[in-house]
Formats: sequence, C-alpha cells, structure tokens
Amino acid sequence: MNFKIGDVLIPNQFVLAPMAGICNEAFRLICKEQGAGLLMAEMVSDKAIAYKNQKTLKMTKVNEHEHPISMQIFGASVDSLVLAAKFVDTCTDADIIDINMGCPVNKVAKKSGAGASLLKDPELVYEITKAVVNSVSKPVTVKIRAGWDKSSINAVTNAKLIEKAGAKAITIHGRTRADFYSGKADYNIIKEVVEAVNIPVVGNGDVIDIHSAKEMFKTGCKAIAIGRGALGNPFIFRELNSYFNDGIILDKPDNKEIYDTIMHQYDLLLKLKGERLANLEMRSHIAWYIKGKPNSSKIKEEVFRQNDFNKVKEIIANYLL
Ligand SMILES: Cc1cc2nc3c(=O)[nH]c(=O)nc-3n(C[C@H](O)[C@H](O)[C@H](O)COP(=O)(O)O)c2cc1C
Repeated sequence: MNFKIGDVLIPNQFVLAPMAGICNEAFRLICKEQGAGLLMAEMVSDKAIAYKNQKTLKMTKVNEHEHPISMQIFGASVDSLVLAAKFVDTCTDADIIDINMGCPVNKVAKKSGAGASLLKDPELVYEITKAVVNSVSKPVTVKIRAGWDKSSINAVTNAKLIEKAGAKAITIHGRTRADFYSGKADYNIIKEVVEAVNIPVVGNGDVIDIHSAKEMFKTGCKAIAIGRGALGNPFIFRELNSYFNDGIILDKPDNKEIYDTIMHQYDLLLKLKGERLANLEMRSHIAWYIKGKPNSSKIKEEVFRQNDFNKVKEIIANYLL
C-alpha cells in the first residue's frame, strides 16, 4: 500500500532504516531491489557538510535507481542543521531530508548534544524542525526515540511539536536513549504517537519477520522501518510486501540466491569503495547472510582471516553452492 511523505510517493510501507556504516549506496540498492519502499541513507554530520569533508559529500551521492530516498543529517544547533539541510535540498538528489533525533552513541548524543540528546529539549526539537522546514523545499521528517530514559519518556510531546513545526512524517524507535538497543522496543509508545499526530508515523524497532511486522502494524503506524532485520536478509522487504500487500507467504531464499546476492552486493561495493574497503566491509555482511546456518561460525572465522576476496568467494561458493 502506498503513502505520501509531503509530495513524495512511497510505493509501499516498508522502509530501510538508516544505519551508519551500513546503509551506503551498495546496501541500499540491494534492499531496493528486494522491494524496500523508501531508503534512508546513513546519517551525515552537519559540521562535516559545512567543512566540505570529501568523504561525507561522497556519502550524499544518490544513485538514479534509489528513489525515493531520504538523506539523514545530524547536529546540535539550529544554524548548522539549517545549512546542512540546505545542502541536501539543493546539492543532492535525495527526495526527503530527515533529522536524526535518536542516535544514542556518546560521541553524538553526549559530547555533541546531537541525536537523542535533543529529545530532552522539546523547545529545541521544535525550533530545529521549524527552521529546517522553512529553509528547504523538500519534505522534512524527523526520527526520534521514546525519550531520553525511562523517567523522561516524551515522544508524544516531541511528536506533536515536530508536526506543528511542519515535518511531513515521524519515525519513532520504541526505545529510550538509555536503552540503546537492549530489551524490547515499546510498541505502546509508538501507538501513542500515532494517535497524537496526523502526519504518517513510521514505526521502528525489532521488526524481523511477518509476525513482528503484524505486531508493529497494530500500533496503527503507516509504515515500518527495518534496520537490523535487513542485515544479511534484504529479502525481508519482498517477504513483507508479498504477505501484507498480496497475502502470499514466500519461501525463504535458497543458498544459490544468497550466494548471488552476496556477490552482487560485493560488486556494488567494489564500484563504490574500491577493493580494500569492499573486502573489509563484505566480511560482516557475509557473516550476517550465513548466520544461523550449520557450521556458519567456522566459515565466518575463515572469511575474516582472508584479505583476498577471490579466496572469500571460493569459501562461500564451497559452503553455499
Ligand atoms: C549499526 C547501526 C547503525 C545505526 N545508524 C543509525 C543512523 O545513522 N541514524 C539513525 O537514525 N538510526 C541509526 N540506527 C538505528 C536504526 O535506524 C533503528 O532505529 C534501530 O536499529 C532499531 O530498529 P531495528 O530493530 O529494526 O534495527 C542504527 C542502528 C544500527 C544497528
């Protein structure tokens, strides 16, 4: 089922959640090919954009096959976030600008006052969102968490202010900053946010299959953002689309398809980052692709010992084919 974020048509309800270090063009294209309705790129820093950091500017590049795609920025001050948003608005092909208000890591949330730290200050949440909305022409969305910690859960307050400031959608991860990724995401707080605002809400946290997606849809959310559930399993997008939009439960991908997908992702990464980085990055992805299969930890160790991708290819071919 399609829906709109501002004037951008999202063809289905399954979104690739932003993941720093993972959601580069190669992985995004793999997820798109498997049916992700919206791709969210890994976050980029407002300061790095201002300083024209070449690595960061490269990260903002969009492939023509990625639309619709959202580019996420993070920062702590109104002015620098506005500058970064203007850059995404006018100098990139992204369709949507997302503001990160959920990152829990110390470097972002504690040292820089960005990410989830912003949730502690609803006035600032409003000010940032409004200033960004008013300075760009692309739709603006915000990604939040339930709150800073259990004693300060304020997602409803923040969500209402984000809507009032003119954002066109909200993604909410049902954990607090203090939770990081522990425990289970709280779907009740997602439901409360859905009921409090009129813009589309994208529910996020712990969706890994049809069952968990059904639970998430009970919140009334318009769409679901999937992060870790897509690692080594980009097939989740076609599975959810097939089930929720066509009523069909698909078979799991066979080993040949997993092998082909790994090789395809490697080729895309090779083009994007060159041999050394592609080799390094593919190791973790391979570990995710084969996780849970017989003997996979031994194969993972073998893969991690290799620097030459031809050897890796051989190991994986012997294992999967
Ligand atoms: C490795 C990793 C990197 C992440 N990077 C980002 C990020 O750049 N921006 C963001 O908003 N969330 C980031 N997240 C959070 C995810 O988008 C998502 O909210 C979280 O993982 C919960 O969803 P899941 O249970 O489907 O993984 C990251 C998560 C992981 C595991």
